Amino acid sequence: MTFKVTPWEVTGDVDYEKLIKEFGTQPLTDKILARLEKHTGELHYMIRRGIFISHRDLDWLLDEYEKGNKFFLYTGRGPSGHTHLGHLIPWILTKWLQDKFGAELYFQMTDDEKFLFSDKLTLKETNNFAYENALDLIALGFKPKLTKIIIDTECADTLYPLALSVAKRITFSVVRAVFGFQNETNVGQIFFTSMQAVPAFLPSVLAGKNIPCLIPHGIDQDPHFRITRDVLPRMGYYKPAALHNIFFPSLQQGNKMSASLPDTAIFTNDKPDEVKRKIWNALTGGRETIDQQRKLGGQPNLCSVFKYYYFLFETDDAELEKRRQACLTGKLLCGECKNELVARINKFLEKHQAGREAGRKNIGKFIFKK
Ligand code: TRP
Repeated sequence: MTFKVTPWEVTGDVDYEKLIKEFGTQPLTDKILARLEKHTGELHYMIRRGIFISHRDLDWLLDEYEKGNKFFLYTGRGPSGHTHLGHLIPWILTKWLQDKFGAELYFQMTDDEKFLFSDKLTLKETNNFAYENALDLIALGFKPKLTKIIIDTECADTLYPLALSVAKRITFSVVRAVFGFQNETNVGQIFFTSMQAVPAFLPSVLAGKNIPCLIPHGIDQDPHFRITRDVLPRMGYYKPAALHNIFFPSLQQGNKMSASLPDTAIFTNDKPDEVKRKIWNALTGGRETIDQQRKLGGQPNLCSVFKYYYFLFETDDAELEKRRQACLTGKLLCGECKNELVARINKFLEKHQAGREAGRKNIGKFIFKK
């Protein structure tokens, strides 16, 4: 099986063990998780289940923390469309880390990136999506006092001089090797990693002293941060640490969810009947007939509905295992399992959508200002 993972494209059936080796990230071992748990009192289910699969320099970050050198969090979103449930994975863990460590969050909205990398989207559209997507962050309950949303094109006066000092230390041959850029690649794309690097040291610049940084993010973004980690020490800053999550499954086949194929994903602004239709059309591990299913059992390992429980909608490990067993033994049929999932998703979305609407008047409190 071949697969491909870049910041802009994920295809095929991803072999994460192989990917970790290729990228050179560190697996989250029991030892390091025990160390994290000492500070958090528990481990988030996404960490327990391996939805977060690897890291860079988490041990160093905890060394610093134990010496009293507190870290800030950094993550972001390329606003190319509405938010889908897969986007929430790193944000939910980031919220948990913010609560556990009282850490500040810098959240970058790369409206510039999505303009540069899209054939269709205008800058006005990506900028509008930045505001739309910000509502999803607010709905997740991030604290306005601790959370700063950076919209790239609107914070250019702060970001640009810092991006320049990064850009000066990245050569074309490096970005070509890392991203596979060609002669036809536009020069904005070639420059872009310099922008994504900035929030990893912006708080250090603002504070006038080095502050450790932890970036929870989808593992596809690692190439940007490999370059960032190479450049920042040369500018006198710490390398950012990172926690990497695997991709949320598509409702249709093995690939990750995609904003460009709306039926493969549930969006945070979907209506209850759309959710129902998408889940009813989803790929399952069910058998051809009810009789066969009763006899042979279902195949939760192949089932996107089961994966939805696993990633987001059954946070209790024992309950999840019960569901898996009921499926494997043919007691639980797909219809019932889908109906329960639709109800859980719609319950979540009802609250989330109300949070988004309430967030519209608070958005100003979250936007980064110098
Ligand atoms: N490039 C990311 C995307 O396309 C957006 C982003 C910017 C980001 N800064 C980040 C993602 C930091 C994770 C962490 O989605």
